[in-house]
Amino acid sequence: MAEIVGAYFTSHVPAIGGAIHRGDQQTPYWKPFFDGFPKVHEWLAEVKPDVAVVFNNDHGLNFFLDKLPTFAVGAAAEYSNADEGWGLPLYKPFTGHPELSWHIIEQLVGDEFDITTCQEMKVDHALSIPFELAWPDAAAWPVKLVPIHINTVQHPLPSAKRCLAMGRSVHRALASWTGAERIVVIGTGGLSHQLDGKRAGFINPDYDRFCMDHLASDPDALTGHSIREMVRLAGTQGVEILNWIAARGALGECAREIHRNYHIPISNTAAATMLLETA
Ligand code: DHB
Ligand code: FE
Repeated sequence: MAEIVGAYFTSHVPAIGGAIHRGDQQTPYWKPFFDGFPKVHEWLAEVKPDVAVVFNNDHGLNFFLDKLPTFAVGAAAEYSNADEGWGLPLYKPFTGHPELSWHIIEQLVGDEFDITTCQEMKVDHALSIPFELAWPDAAAWPVKLVPIHINTVQHPLPSAKRCLAMGRSVHRALASWTGAERIVVIGTGGLSHQLDGKRAGFINPDYDRFCMDHLASDPDALTGHSIREMVRLAGTQGVEILNWIAARGALGECAREIHRNYHIPISNTAAATMLLETA
């Protein structure tokens, strides 16, 4: 019987990759953010996941504004990173888990989620940065990957309520998976940030705190805002909190927070890292 060991959430600002590449983790700008990670490393070493189900958003590497699925699930045997123009090194390839992907896809479609299945998929900074942060010295990634993409880019976006329901459907798939895997759920992106327009640089610590405070105990509280309200509260790119909401759904009904780090700003973003366990 597979076990869901918990959930890991973090921001995926590309500049983090540059800081890791340069070894800047202990400089005054970066230290408060990287200080959130010894606990993550300790926890991962303890719970030893061998599969990661990752809720993230594509930033143009797979899908562009002309074709953008609302929900897309990877079902590939391998995923690679590619140059996105951020000047980051290319990351190691990621081994997939196609059998588990198809099991999740069957559940999602059975639960009436009209997803796109992708037997080829690239991973961008939304996935590579959280992996680099989690396993900084790994020669090869220690987990197999099932990536799930949510459209947080091209409106209309799926509602927070729909994302939580989608995550809960993934949870049902994980709960019925008969393999012996130890599964970590990952949500990436956010928290509040806006990269463009009149409000570029906008950050909202009150809304971020509201999201972090309710994530474990009452995730439905995060579904009370419309997408328009979420854009106002979190910024145009802060809607990446949808990835966190879906990941929280995939964790299961009861959860407790075991770790939190919040630091403003990293680049243009309120950078947050959290760990949740099933309660
Ligand atoms: C930044 C944040 C993001 O979520 C992203 O995808 C790209 C850039 C930033 O703050 O620089
Ligand atoms: Fe992003």
